[in-house]
Amino acid sequence: MRHATKLADLGVDGLEAVLAQAIAWKQGPHPRHIPGKILGLVFFNPSLRTRASFEAVAMRGGGSAIVLEVGGGVWKLEDRIGAVMDGDKAEHLKEAVPVLARYVDILAVRTFAGGADDAADFLDPVINGFRQYSTVPVISMESAVEHPCQGLADMMTARETFGSTKKLPVTLTWAPHIKPLPKAVPDSFLLTAAAAGCEVRVAHPKGFELHPQVIAEAESFAKATGGSVSITNNLDEALTGSRVVYTKAWGPATKSGLGPEAVKQFPEWMTSRAHMEKAAKDAIFMHCLPTRRNVEVADGVLDHPNSKVVDEAENRFHVQRSLVDWILKG
Ligand code: CP
Repeated sequence: MRHATKLADLGVDGLEAVLAQAIAWKQGPHPRHIPGKILGLVFFNPSLRTRASFEAVAMRGGGSAIVLEVGGGVWKLEDRIGAVMDGDKAEHLKEAVPVLARYVDILAVRTFAGGADDAADFLDPVINGFRQYSTVPVISMESAVEHPCQGLADMMTARETFGSTKKLPVTLTWAPHIKPLPKAVPDSFLLTAAAAGCEVRVAHPKGFELHPQVIAEAESFAKATGGSVSITNNLDEALTGSRVVYTKAWGPATKSGLGPEAVKQFPEWMTSRAHMEKAAKDAIFMHCLPTRRNVEVADGVLDHPNSKVVDEAENRFHVQRSLVDWILKG
């Protein structure tokens, strides 16, 4: 049984297979590739793109979806082993997950990082609980560590634009926000770009380091694919000659000593036209969305013809139907 809660579940071969089919399927009529199948979509956190695109995958593929919002008409779920369940969580994953698995063919789960402790978040207890207790395949719709479907859509968008991602210089840049956000999207961009053979540059202010285990894994992917990973606090250096500028806000490393207000302290990191002009002439702008205009990214970047954010969001649908196919073939 195949799961897809992290890029390592696909590896470089799985990534290539899913992207190739997603790009091919985008050119033709929608294949009805999952007739009668049911996707169970479990949301611990809000969503626009992820929910709509997975429901579209189910409906256009000839199947259907059951959407559950944990804590919103669905019991709050406990994941801690040995917990005394005398709080607001009425049911444990140990019962809830195998029960759901009796009703559906795939379970997809969104469960964000807590953000208070990077080491605890790295254990990713909820998505790993689903993997442990489910008898059907599990897909991550963003967990504490990775957002693999986003990373797939990002690389599909880069490949559609440039034809190949081998040695493609891409820059992941930190951006300010009104509050600390999880690191799953930057983690997945880094991992997936490295696995796709890109020359990945990561730029952030001091104190906003990503998980060291994720950086090490990205370096390992890059070694296998001929890509590279570099990390800097110098944004100009990271932007020079880059063909993709990928902006994302995330919170400080929890051991950095920086408080939550630190996300507001570097307004000069908001991606502006001046930043884009330091990149290659044909550089595209990407962001997973949602984004806060003129906090993370200036209007002039999002409204520019080289902004690919809507294509990138469309590609969530294409990579996810290909991913579902890859999983069911497993
Ligand atoms: N990019 C993304 O996952 O969007 P949503 O949070 O709206 O699902």
